[in-house]
Amino acid sequence: MSQPVAIVTGAASGIGLAVATHLSTLNYRVVIADLNPSTGEAAAASLGPSATFIQCDVSSYTSQARLFKQAYEWGGNRLDFCHANAGVDDRQLLYDGMDKEEVDDEGLVKPLNTKTMQVNLEAVIQGLWLFKYYVRRSKEAGGGKGKFVATSSAAGLYVMTQNPQYTASKYGVVGFVRAAGPVLTANDSITVNAICPAFIPTNLPPPEILALWPKEHITPLSTALKAIDAFLADDAMTGQAVELSQENIYFRKHVEWANESQRWCGEDSGKIWDAGYAKVPEKKGY
Ligand SMILES: NC(=O)c1ccc[n+]([C@@H]2O[C@H](COP(=O)([O-])OP(=O)(O)OC[C@H]3O[C@@H](n4cnc5c(N)ncnc54)[C@H](O)[C@@H]3O)[C@@H](O)[C@H]2O)c1
Repeated sequence: MSQPVAIVTGAASGIGLAVATHLSTLNYRVVIADLNPSTGEAAAASLGPSATFIQCDVSSYTSQARLFKQAYEWGGNRLDFCHANAGVDDRQLLYDGMDKEEVDDEGLVKPLNTKTMQVNLEAVIQGLWLFKYYVRRSKEAGGGKGKFVATSSAAGLYVMTQNPQYTASKYGVVGFVRAAGPVLTANDSITVNAICPAFIPTNLPPPEILALWPKEHITPLSTALKAIDAFLADDAMTGQAVELSQENIYFRKHVEWANESQRWCGEDSGKIWDAGYAKVPEKKGY
C-alpha cells in the first residue's frame, strides 16, 4: 500500500515546520507548502526524499488549487492529511491615528487591510473545500479517509485587542471547524479540528518581542504535536477547538446554551431547514 500524503501550509517555519517534521517521522509523505521559496526548499530538503516543496500563496484560490492538484499527483493520486496553518498577523491597525486615514480620488475612505482574513480564514475554508475533493478521489490509491487541521489561536477563543482583524479571523476558524466537522466526518470520513495556540516562539512575532516575552508564558512546539497526535489517533474526534497552553492541551466547548430553545435551534432544527429548503428550487438570497 502507498504511503499516506500530507499537505502542511506555512510549513517553512514555526508550527507548520514542526508538524511537517512530525508527520514525516510517522511515515507520511509531506508537501511543504509556503509562500517563501528559500525557507520552503530548505525545509523540504531537511526532511529528505519523502518531502517536497510547493510554493503557494494560500490567499489566492488559484494558487491553492494548484497546490492541491500537484500534491495529489505527487502523492500518487492520494491525499490523507491537510494542516491549513499558514497565517499572518494584522498589517494595519484599526486604531491608527487620523494621519494614517486615507481617502481615494473619489473621496472614499480606503479600506482597512484585512489580509489576515484572506490568509487565516478564507484560505482555511477553501483549503477544506479542496481537501474534500481530493480525499474523495484517493480510495484507489489506498486512501479515502481524511484528517483536516486548521490553525486558529488563543485569540480565536479569547481576544487580542492589539490585533482585531486577526482575532476575527481566528474566531472564524473555530466556528468553521465546529460547524463543518461533524457533517464531513459523517458524510466523508474527514475529521476537521483546530488548534488554538497560546504564544509559541516562531518567526511570526519579530525577534524584539521574543526577546521581551517572559519564559513562563511560552508554549513549546511539542504541545502542538500532542494535539496533532490526538487527532490522528481518533477517527471520531471532530469539530474540536483545542487550546494549547504551556505543556497542556484543552478541548474547548462552545458557550453554554442560554436556554432549551437555543439548544433546540442549534442541535435539532436541521431537519426543518432541510425540509424547507427542499421545497424551493434555489436558495434565494445566496
Ligand atoms: N506563534 C504563535 O505564538 C502563534 C499563536 C497562535 C496562532 N499562531 C498561528 O500559527 C500559524 C503558524 O504561525 P507560526 O507562528 O508558525 O509563524 P511563522 O511565521 O513561523 O510561520 C508562518 C509561515 O506561513 C507562511 N505564510 C505566510 N503567509 C502565507 C501565504 N499567504 N501563503 C503561504 N504561506 C504563507 C510564512 O512564509 C511562514 O513560513 C499561523 O496561522 C499563526 O497565526 C501562532
